[in-house]
Amino acid sequence: MNIILLGPPGAGKGTQARRLVETRGMVQLSTGDMLREARSSGTEMGKKVAEVMDSGNLVTDEIVIGLIEEKISGGGDGFIFDGFPRTLAQADALEELMNRLGQTLDAVIELRVDDEALIDRVTGRYSCAKCGEVYHDRTKPPAKEGVCDLCGSTEFVRRADDNEESLRQRLFAYYKQTSPLIGYYHCKGKLHPVDGMAPIEEVAASIDRILDSLDRG
Ligand code: AP5
Repeated sequence: MNIILLGPPGAGKGTQARRLVETRGMVQLSTGDMLREARSSGTEMGKKVAEVMDSGNLVTDEIVIGLIEEKISGGGDGFIFDGFPRTLAQADALEELMNRLGQTLDAVIELRVDDEALIDRVTGRYSCAKCGEVYHDRTKPPAKEGVCDLCGSTEFVRRADDNEESLRQRLFAYYKQTSPLIGYYHCKGKLHPVDGMAPIEEVAASIDRILDSLDRG
């Protein structure tokens, strides 16, 4: 089963994708993570990517489609597309890629979250520098202060684009370029909206119900 997690910045896509990797053995493909890896490479391309990401704008379709193609062209199944596609051109490219690989896209889970909540989620977010587990100052601190629940590391990082100014631009990009995908996937009968305002475990349960019903066919 292959799915897309769609939603604005801070909606909980990464949080839910990581859980699906743990519980269902799916494979998370986060273009945000891939681009953060590219920016830390120090290459000219990495520097350009860093500038675009920090401003809150979208990186070119050509770059992100290339990254995804590299990851899935070896075949396989059980992909969670997290933060991809983000434009209609990316959605078309994904469809073409899946057709070429004889794969299908089974569901698009749309996480719906109010704008005001997104500001709080993004500005309070940090993650483990070692394993990447995502935390929040208020809603999801580690069980033991300063120690990662998963790997025991004591080093944490905050993203350069997790500030109010950058978030405003990221939201603008979401509504202008990404939200048309909601109508696009609705027309294709693939869209499954989920209340992303609910606590993390409730959102997870809603997603499980959708995936279980698709599994049952
Ligand atoms: P990307 O890394 O994809 O960031 P994003 O879409 O802005 O999404 P986030 O990672 O910020 O949020 P999330 O939905 O994963 O939320 P999370 O689970 O962490 O992209 C970054 C940049 O890369 C883009 O701006 C762009 O420049 C570029 N880029 C990436 N993909 C691209 C593409 N396809 N095309 C072009 N450019 C691209 O949760 C957030 C916080 O909330 C956490 O602290 C978490 O603990 C908390 N939380 C989660 N769920 C809940 C809940 N239900 N209740 C309370 N708190 C919650």
